Amino acid sequence: MSRFSVQERLQLLQRAVPAGTQPKFTTPEEWRAWQDEQGRLSSQRVAEQNRQARFQAVLGRSGIQELHRGCTFENYVAKHEGQQNALDKASRYASDFGNGFGGFIFSGGCGTGKNHLAAAIGNALLARNKSVLVVTVPDLMMRFRETYQDGARQTEASLMNDLCNVDLLVLDDIGVQRGNTNEGVILFQIVDRRLANKKPVGMLTNLDANALNELLGARIMDRMTMDGGMWVNFNWSSYRTQVKS
Ligand SMILES: Nc1ncnc2c1ncn2[C@@H]1O[C@H](COP(=O)(O)OP(=O)(O)OP(=O)(O)O)[C@@H](O)[C@H]1O
Ligand SMILES: [Mg+2]
Repeated sequence: MSRFSVQERLQLLQRAVPAGTQPKFTTPEEWRAWQDEQGRLSSQRVAEQNRQARFQAVLGRSGIQELHRGCTFENYVAKHEGQQNALDKASRYASDFGNGFGGFIFSGGCGTGKNHLAAAIGNALLARNKSVLVVTVPDLMMRFRETYQDGARQTEASLMNDLCNVDLLVLDDIGVQRGNTNEGVILFQIVDRRLANKKPVGMLTNLDANALNELLGARIMDRMTMDGGMWVNFNWSSYRTQVKS
């Protein structure tokens, strides 16, 4: 216990503040409230660091792949209306994040920038201390298979918890393993549970609306686009060929 009372400690602290500096608190009550707030912020930071460390342990990497770490809204080039619309929607999604549980579905061909804009959303959220995980469905299926093996590092339930606790989960390459019946079942479970907990999901896919509907079911698809959710078509040619021309 300190030999000084709260009032005395506050006075000592106030004397140490340089002249001209506006103190954050002038009464012991304000000081206590400030300390409580700092404690709350600090435990939030620790919880966030723990979550990020957990991805590192589970996936051996941070939430956004190295390749897409530098993707931002600013370095996404919008040469036509379609790209501008995708850019505007993605950037609005990031700034409105937290107001609803709607997700986003970016659907279109190879190299059209789906990962770029999903990573830009993710990077913007990471900067706001949100947790983000972008994972491909084949990678996810491999992680689930690993949990069924003897001596697995993680149980299926704890992997499912990790996927459901992150603030934004982006499922990449949905549909490349079509025909694998497990894919539909596992994706359904993850998305259903996240949406039930009002946590959004992003989806990146080459499938069109009918094919995605067939894979995930109308119930999931309806909820994905509710409450601020959006479907964006990336129906232009690959960025690499556009750059060459
Ligand atoms: N409009 C754009 N402006 C700047 N860079 C872009 C743009 N579109 C795509 N790129 C870049 O092109 C590369 C391919 O894009 P990306 O990986 O986002 O494609 P994708 O739509 O996810 O394709 P796939 O379906 O094959 O996974 C990336 O390096 C990305 O940063
Ligand atoms: Mg991609």
